[in-house]
Amino acid sequence: MIFGAILAGGVGSRMHISDMPKQFLSLGNKPIIIHTLEKFLLCERIDEIYIGVHASWLAHMEDLIDRYIHLKKDRIHVVAGGSDRNSTIMNIVAAIETDHGESDDHYIITHDSVRPFVTDRILNDNVESVLKYKATDTVTEAVDTIVVSEDGKVISDIPDRRKMYQGQTPQSFQISLLKRLYGELSEDEKNILTDACKICVVRNVPVHLVAGEVSNLKITTVSDYNIAQAMVGGERID
Ligand code: CTP
Repeated sequence: MIFGAILAGGVGSRMHISDMPKQFLSLGNKPIIIHTLEKFLLCERIDEIYIGVHASWLAHMEDLIDRYIHLKKDRIHVVAGGSDRNSTIMNIVAAIETDHGESDDHYIITHDSVRPFVTDRILNDNVESVLKYKATDTVTEAVDTIVVSEDGKVISDIPDRRKMYQGQTPQSFQISLLKRLYGELSEDEKNILTDACKICVVRNVPVHLVAGEVSNLKITTVSDYNIAQAMVGGERID
């Protein structure tokens, strides 16, 4: 089976406009996370959708689903998120295995709740790729030159831009593979390897690339939020 995993366990500490985690802020006429959830509901390749939400916001998430989602509600499951992004993914994996058992034929399409402009094409390409390759990342070609600085003051390197990509989500995995690799990490590695694809990379498991879109932006700061509002015709915040 193919499972969507919408990661919403964060509190949005870099977005200083509300006490509410950013995924619950309104974008146009509905919350950011509802835009994201609707994209997953529309993707016919995804069988069930799990949302990992910060424990204090579980009831709020259930209310939003009741208020905004009217079709295919039975495909949606809300579970408590974890203390970091990968723990939220592993909480979702545990819930999937409680509901559907362990299988090498279970795949997970993990996605930031705060990337509401993911497209059906990107989701479908992730499904195709993960079924074939077991681990997949969504990227765009770097447009700016990437400059490396070890001390934040002086350039130490300028890598060849043609080999540089920017990582987005979805990131998709065969569940049994991700669970095994994550289970083998030491506590120190868990603290460092905050990107799920990097867990594969450091264990020499190939991660295949799917083309993202510049519009699949991640809402991290107020300025990202204002760009997203402009994209849907909503009002900016100063
Ligand atoms: N996330 C999660 N569980 C966590 C931390 C983050 O599911 N324990 C999710 C966020 O909700 C978000 C995505 O991972 O959808 C990307 O993380 P980021 O933009 O860093 O979100 P926050 O952690 O909420 O933001 P900040 O780092 O500014 O606090």
